[in-house]
Amino acid sequence: MVLVAGSAFAQVTAQPAGEKLAPYYPTPDSIVRKMLDFGQLKAGERMFDLGSGDGRIVIMAARDFQADSTGVELDTDLYLASEAKIKKLGLQKLARIIHGDIMTQDYSSAKLITVYLLPESNIKARPILEAQLKKGTRVVAHDFGIGGWTPVKTVTIADDGEGRSHTLYLYIR
Ligand SMILES: C[S@@+](CC[C@H](N)C(=O)[O-])C[C@H]1O[C@@H](n2cnc3c(N)ncnc32)[C@H](O)[C@@H]1O
Repeated sequence: MVLVAGSAFAQVTAQPAGEKLAPYYPTPDSIVRKMLDFGQLKAGERMFDLGSGDGRIVIMAARDFQADSTGVELDTDLYLASEAKIKKLGLQKLARIIHGDIMTQDYSSAKLITVYLLPESNIKARPILEAQLKKGTRVVAHDFGIGGWTPVKTVTIADDGEGRSHTLYLYIR
């Protein structure tokens, strides 16, 4: 009995395999909204946030844009916290977090991808996006563009209210 409980616990808390592509550094909520607006997210569309942190992008996409929203997060604590937040808000039908590695997921159904990783991580993720994304899929990258791709638009928000500037890059595959 103890063994069963112990193994169930281990299953939930075990860190999935995968390289840590960026530290946790959340996007301010005001910028999250701008990312989703900039990506022209519409109700019913499927979106993915690559490295979803505390789930704030996925949650806003589901709650405020009625999009079908999936985050991918390697870190166990962030995964558990974001899943708990989704449940607390009653958003389970529209929002979910995969406890896994960005590099091993299927993004072929995406209409929008959001990404806030490091420049070298964007380059590592690029081949999987190039292989999987359907023509017309939008990709919004925060602060670091995707090396080798040409954005159709960029925007810089000079001050997020806390004195920090942010640049967003929009790509259309
Ligand atoms: C800069 S934070 C961005 C968090 C969130 N997307 C946001 O904008 O607020 C990057 C996140 O990616 C996660 N991460 C890093 N490498 C990952 C990987 N290989 N698979 C899944 N998540 C990963 C980190 O744990 C962290 O939460």
